[in-house]
Formats: sequence, structure tokens, C-alpha cells
Amino acid sequence: MKLSGNTILITGGAAGIGFAFAERFIKAGNKVIICGRREAKLQEAKEKYPELITRVCDVTKESDRVALFDWATSEHPDVNVLVNNAGIQQRYHVLKTNAKEDWRYYSQEIASNIEAPFHLAMLFATYFANKDYGAILNVSSGLAFTPMAIAPIYSASKAAVHSFTMSLRHQLEDTAIEVIEVAPPAVNTDLGGAGLHTFGTPVDEFADAIFKGLEAGKTEIGYARAENAMRMSRDEIDETVKMMYAKMKNTIL
Ligand SMILES: NC(=O)c1ccc[n+]([C@@H]2O[C@H](COP(=O)([O-])OP(=O)(O)OC[C@H]3O[C@@H](n4cnc5c(N)ncnc54)[C@H](OP(=O)(O)O)[C@@H]3O)[C@@H](O)[C@H]2O)c1
Repeated sequence: MKLSGNTILITGGAAGIGFAFAERFIKAGNKVIICGRREAKLQEAKEKYPELITRVCDVTKESDRVALFDWATSEHPDVNVLVNNAGIQQRYHVLKTNAKEDWRYYSQEIASNIEAPFHLAMLFATYFANKDYGAILNVSSGLAFTPMAIAPIYSASKAAVHSFTMSLRHQLEDTAIEVIEVAPPAVNTDLGGAGLHTFGTPVDEFADAIFKGLEAGKTEIGYARAENAMRMSRDEIDETVKMMYAKMKNTIL
């Protein structure tokens, strides 16, 4: 990926992986726009990096996504990179759910992890297609390849992101838009709520490794367990998924 001179919009850029990417893109000489639901969190990020441009948005809402696209392309017409990073994770056993009453709760993951990146990618791809250079970077997960059964919709949503990203890469192969997938392993952030991701890779170590991959021009970049998961055979996938569920099922029962 061309790593400087871009104008980059990062969804969910005020915290966790998105913020680690924002810091590195700023330091590499890019203009960076971040969005998220919590204004205070965006403000906190801006206090650290005053050059950050911030925008409140809830990517689960179609109207917010269209408003984000209209605002970004009119106020910052040089925008040429989209990082679809915002996402949530929910863990539960399906027999403990009440999908009749609570479907809105469960479908949030579909809206933020599937609808939002797909819709934004489709909006921005048409805009980037007229530029000399553009990139769409989608954040999937190692769980796209080896589902974590305690988070069934989450894992399925990330498999969808992987599949969509592959198709998008083919459709855009005759344009100047690079389509990049980043598949994180467990990274220590507030994903799923504070305290759930404390056993993984430190976020700076992860982001540094991903930037090495971007610098090297890779278009599918994993790290640690996620990198292994991306190349597993079907038998290895079955074994890994079984082992993960056995290890983690008590956390949701
Ligand atoms: N951490 C991991 O272990 C891990 C592993 C694999 C993949 N990932 C993926 O990496 C991405 C970033 O996750 P993270 O670990 O950095 O989690 P995080 O620390 O919880 O950060 C998520 C970011 O997304 C934003 N966000 C969430 N829902 C949003 C919405 N509806 N509209 C706008 N912004 C929204 C949040 O801001 P607001 O709350 O202010 O909106 C926050 O800035 C996600 O796609 C996640 O699935 C993470």
C-alpha cells in the first residue's frame, strides 16, 4: 500500500486497533479522519493528535453511513483510503437467547460488522475509481477462518468480510484501488467490553506487524494465530474450532 500522502477515513478510529492505525498513518504523513459513536473518545484522540479530523457517526445506521460519505467527499474531496475497522463482538449460547424479543440486540453485529463495511466499501469504491490511487482496507479476523463458537454471529460476520473482500479485489482489479484485508488474532483492546481481550497480542506490536505487511505490498495480512488460520487445511480448522470451543464454552454457560 502507498503509505504516505493519502487522506484516510478510519471507522472506529478513536480506540483499539483503529487508533493504533490512525497513529501510524499520521506519523507516515497522511491526513487522517476518524469516526465513532462516542464524541468524548474522539475528543480524547484529538487531544493526543490535534491534526486528527473527527466525526461522530454510528455505522449501524444507513443514514449515518450515507451522511458520512457525503460529508467526507464534500469536506475532504481528497479522501482516497477507507479503513473499515469499526466492529463489535457478542458472546452467547443460542439456547440462552430469546431471539423473538431480542433480535435487535443480536442483529447489531450484522449491522456493524457486515452491513457497514459492505455499504461503505460500495459507496467509496465508486468515488475512488476516478482517482490516481485509492485503497479499501477491511479488518476481518482470524475467526473468519476458524470460527470461535462462543461468538457465532461475530465469527460468521468476519467470514463474510473475508469473502466480500476477495470479490471486491477481483472486481476492482482494473482500477487503481487496492483492496486489502487485515486479519487480527486476539489483540488486547476493549472489543466485546473491557477485560475480555487481555490474553492476546499488545495492540502496538500487532499494528507494527501489520504496517510491515502494508509496506511490503501485501493484500491479505494476518498476524500470529490469525496468519496460521488463514492457511489451515479443513482438518486443521475442525480441530482448532473444537479445541477453542472446549476451552471457552464455560465462559458463556
Ligand atoms: N481485538 C481483537 O482481538 C480483534 C481480533 C480480530 C478482529 N478484530 C477487529 O478489529 C476491529 C477493531 O476492534 P478493536 O479490537 O479495536 O475493538 P475496540 O477497542 O472495541 O474498538 C472498536 C472501535 O469501533 C468503534 N465502533 C463500534 N461500533 C461502532 C458503530 N456502530 N459506529 C461507529 N463506530 C463504532 C468504537 O467506537 P465507539 O464505541 O465510540 O463507536 C471503537 O472505536 C473490529 O472490526 C474487530 O472485530 C479485533
